[in-house]
Amino acid sequence: MNVRKIIIDTDPGQDDAVAILLALASPEEIEVLGITCVAGNVPLELTVRNARMVCELAGRRDVKVFAGCDRPLDRDLVTAEHVHGKTGLDGPDLPEPTMPLQDMRAVEFIIETLRKEPASSVTLVPIGPLTNIATAFRMAPDIVRKVHEIVLMGGAYFEVGNITPAAEFNIHVDPHAADLVFRAGVPIVVMPLDVTHKALVTRARNDAFRAIGNRVGTAVAEMTDFFERYDREKYGSDGAPLHDPCTVAYLIRPELFSGRHVNVEIETGSELTMGMTVADWWGVTDRAANALFIGNLDADGFFELLTERLARL
Ligand code: BDR
Ligand code: CA
Repeated sequence: MNVRKIIIDTDPGQDDAVAILLALASPEEIEVLGITCVAGNVPLELTVRNARMVCELAGRRDVKVFAGCDRPLDRDLVTAEHVHGKTGLDGPDLPEPTMPLQDMRAVEFIIETLRKEPASSVTLVPIGPLTNIATAFRMAPDIVRKVHEIVLMGGAYFEVGNITPAAEFNIHVDPHAADLVFRAGVPIVVMPLDVTHKALVTRARNDAFRAIGNRVGTAVAEMTDFFERYDREKYGSDGAPLHDPCTVAYLIRPELFSGRHVNVEIETGSELTMGMTVADWWGVTDRAANALFIGNLDADGFFELLTERLARL
């Protein structure tokens, strides 16, 4: 298997942190060219802090971390401290990061990297609002055709919404950015709530993280302990959904996932349903498919992969 070069675009977030750790633990399949941060779960100054804390936790002070957009294209920022805690990474007691934040801005890094690397060799992995990616596409339309694929976490069809009754958080926060990205013509794989709500950290799976016995395993168990209190209280679900790591797991073991090629459009007009991903799952229109919309995963296989990889760090 060729090593896939990726840029992780993120707003950590405990589940973002696990996605980053999974990527850094998988050098045989994945090369992380850089981590670009965006405002989302918490404001930008915290997401750049948290991303560097996670790299240091993985022993990877060499990873390039960039600060990106601090607000959505056309709306006020909505954050999710009610889910992720005041810092965005509540749970484990991790040291403040000392590794540098890159001087270059995230959008510039995305543009420069896509221009420099061979066409179709870089995969974008957005696991927060799509502001950085949309801004890069807008500023440098020539890079769009150079993207190999976008594998993102966002949206929902059957599970509908988690930040409003109609919309998933990442898409709702910056629906205009999402609209631009879904219309860009790049191959897109979507991990919506429909699949991520099946990736639940049950008690046994949390115990397995802790039983790894390294610093990373303990920190991930503490992160998911914190994260899950919200989902248990709110939805009565059997543990926290590990949304964002589904993207990275797909890059490593795509056979764990299944979905449909469908048309996905983003609601940007109605305040009531702002950021809804209108997925033509049943093919009731003749709109052309623009995304592989994932609906299912082998949850045990996913957690086995995750636990095995985190043990390598
Ligand atoms: C998404 O929103 C964030 O809270 C999570 O990090 C994930 O990316 C789930 O809706
Ligand atoms: Ca996220």
